[in-house]
Amino acid sequence: MKKLLLLLAAAAMVACSTVKQKTLTLTDPLTLQSPDGTLTLRFGLSQDGTPMYALAMGEREVVKPSAMGFTFRGERINNDYDSRLHRTYTADVDFHSGFSIESEERDSFDETWNPIWGEESEIRNRYNGMTVTVAKDGIKMLIRFRLYEDGLGFRYEFPDQEKLTYFVIKDELTQFAMTSDHTAYWIPGDYDTQEYSYTVSRLSEIKAGHNPDYNASQLICSPNAVQTALQMKTDEGLYINIHEAELLDYPAMNLDLDPATLTFTTMLTPDAEGYRGRMQTPCKTPWRTVMVVDDARKVLASRLILNLNEACAVPDAAEWVHPVKYMGVWWEMIADKTKWSYTEDYHSVRLGETDYAASKPHGQHGANNDNVRRYIDFAAANGFDAVLVEGWNEGWEDWFGHQKFDVFDFVTPYPDFDIAALNAYAHSKGVKLIMHHETSSSAVNYERHLEEAYSLMNKYGYDAVKSGYVGDILPEGEHHYSQFMINHYHYCITEAVRHRIMVNAHEAVRPTGLCRTWPNMIGNESARGTEFKTGILPNHVTILPFTRLQGGPMDYTPGIFEMDMAKLNPASPGNISSTIARQLAIYVTMYSPLQMAADLPEHYAVHMDAFQFIKDVAVDWSESRYLLAEPGDYLVIARRAKAGAKSKANLGKDGHEWFVGGVTDENERDLEVDLSFLEPGRTYTATIYEDAPGACGIGDDPAFNPAYSIRTVRVTAADKLSMHLAQSGGFAISLQ
Ligand code: NOJ
Ligand code: CA
Repeated sequence: MKKLLLLLAAAAMVACSTVKQKTLTLTDPLTLQSPDGTLTLRFGLSQDGTPMYALAMGEREVVKPSAMGFTFRGERINNDYDSRLHRTYTADVDFHSGFSIESEERDSFDETWNPIWGEESEIRNRYNGMTVTVAKDGIKMLIRFRLYEDGLGFRYEFPDQEKLTYFVIKDELTQFAMTSDHTAYWIPGDYDTQEYSYTVSRLSEIKAGHNPDYNASQLICSPNAVQTALQMKTDEGLYINIHEAELLDYPAMNLDLDPATLTFTTMLTPDAEGYRGRMQTPCKTPWRTVMVVDDARKVLASRLILNLNEACAVPDAAEWVHPVKYMGVWWEMIADKTKWSYTEDYHSVRLGETDYAASKPHGQHGANNDNVRRYIDFAAANGFDAVLVEGWNEGWEDWFGHQKFDVFDFVTPYPDFDIAALNAYAHSKGVKLIMHHETSSSAVNYERHLEEAYSLMNKYGYDAVKSGYVGDILPEGEHHYSQFMINHYHYCITEAVRHRIMVNAHEAVRPTGLCRTWPNMIGNESARGTEFKTGILPNHVTILPFTRLQGGPMDYTPGIFEMDMAKLNPASPGNISSTIARQLAIYVTMYSPLQMAADLPEHYAVHMDAFQFIKDVAVDWSESRYLLAEPGDYLVIARRAKAGAKSKANLGKDGHEWFVGGVTDENERDLEVDLSFLEPGRTYTATIYEDAPGACGIGDDPAFNPAYSIRTVRVTAADKLSMHLAQSGGFAISLQ
């Protein structure tokens, strides 16, 4: 291997990390058609032997000829004085040009599979495949293509071979050349956070550095880079979406745009040394995906990302993985009414040494026995499965911003949180507690404690954990999306399987469909959620289903009824930009098997009529219909409850109940909801929760008014409902 890399390096002479756009010689390209004939993939080599692909929908070009390949790091030089002062390497290795095509294979696939939970009970996975083996100086690489009727997936595979065993990726150079200056719905390319508001602009206007959103850990990777899933719309009305699927043992991808050519190049997240993938053959990259459809609703209906992931790897998942509707001792801390911490006595904490029992409590600790009991009572009385409790464990006094290694041990409760008694109390009322593991991004510390932490959960009967990664990653220099952390998140998931634990990780990498294989990944944050309070733009929830949700469900934490933040803490004024009806709509428009009713019991108590929708709405579905959709503008989605799903939210449902949600951006609008999806000949009682006349959901508008009204009508499949949505408003309908 060493000799060969040296040879390759010499041949390449000038190492470059960016590939200029190349012209694909299309005299004799290999072509592949989607099963329905809509999409055509072309693959070939350029004049200098660079692998190139292009994608078309009918006659329309979608991705122009785009380069593929890598730059590898050279070999470590270990034999001179200089190499003892610095790590030195031979020249970078060009693994993007000079290839020849060795062979090509075709396959076709058609199956229908049943997810453990999901937007529907059956998913069809049908594609035509082509795998091309290319070679350079005796090193082989497979490029595997799968073409679906709604998009393309391709990945690189490095088979076991004598001449390539261990190698380090300096850059992946996969390109996505766009045909013109499309509209893009984008957030800045970043190695650590996705908690941004979306900008809607032309591709040529992308300027990541200018987004003011701040996050506790943030590293914008390039001024013109964006994150995936990236949604675009062409002037001709095509919807193009670029993402990745099955991200395992590899860094996450951003897309760096060359504004002159409107070509994106993959920008992988670097590790602490700046490299982007430590590989051992046989190995493969995640799938790179390009969805293209002619209707926004088809983006929402696409299962491209899930289908590219492997089948369920947890044989007994159906026995213990289940959807969850929950409440939490959470919003009161987010809204600064109470605190995660217990005392103000200590400037810093040493776990195991700091004596909490001897300290004076500051009196605002949210996770205290009485308060937790209050939530359990409310959750039990209203049919919830679970109650999340944050701030239950020692360490919150100095948890944030210190790059502290031993920040939490995940097993030691504060003196006023009786872990045994509270779990017993919850279980006696048919409710489970949800564990909370804030790691403070000290990933190695978390791994050290994981077995004990999960065992403690087993001991007390917790079956779900919310984990979190606030702040810069420890070990320093790693990123939330670097290969080290991708492997960490996956380790936590697979260890959780051993303990029959479901995981909802916050601040982890954005999902890539792995929940198909590991259905105990019932949630993730990895986007800007309700916790940003007044910092959520009106169009946010009209975009997320096209972007973040493509990879898997989000723990968005809807259900806020008290929009005036000053009511929780007079020092932090401002209204959330939403009406109450819109908060209800989100339970349907933002699919998740894990849904929170995030507000405080006392805020629900004064609106029990509207709260009825949160009680009623299912969390698991046998079918979903995307009725109206335009990213950045509006969404209307209808879903049919799955009978017999193992959440209290679905128990008692016979599978004939439908729920509809609609949301709009900063514009008020009138939308017609065609009920023809209902079963013909059946009459339903529709309970409609809508914006009251005069409602306005724009938080800083003097006319802000989140008011709702509720009406009940009898409807059939022949009816259409006329709905008025206030600015930043919405509606929710339950059809029984
Ligand atoms: C950020 C999470 O997103 C939030 O939900 C959590 O409450 C805090 N971290 C504290 O762990
Ligand atoms: Ca967060």
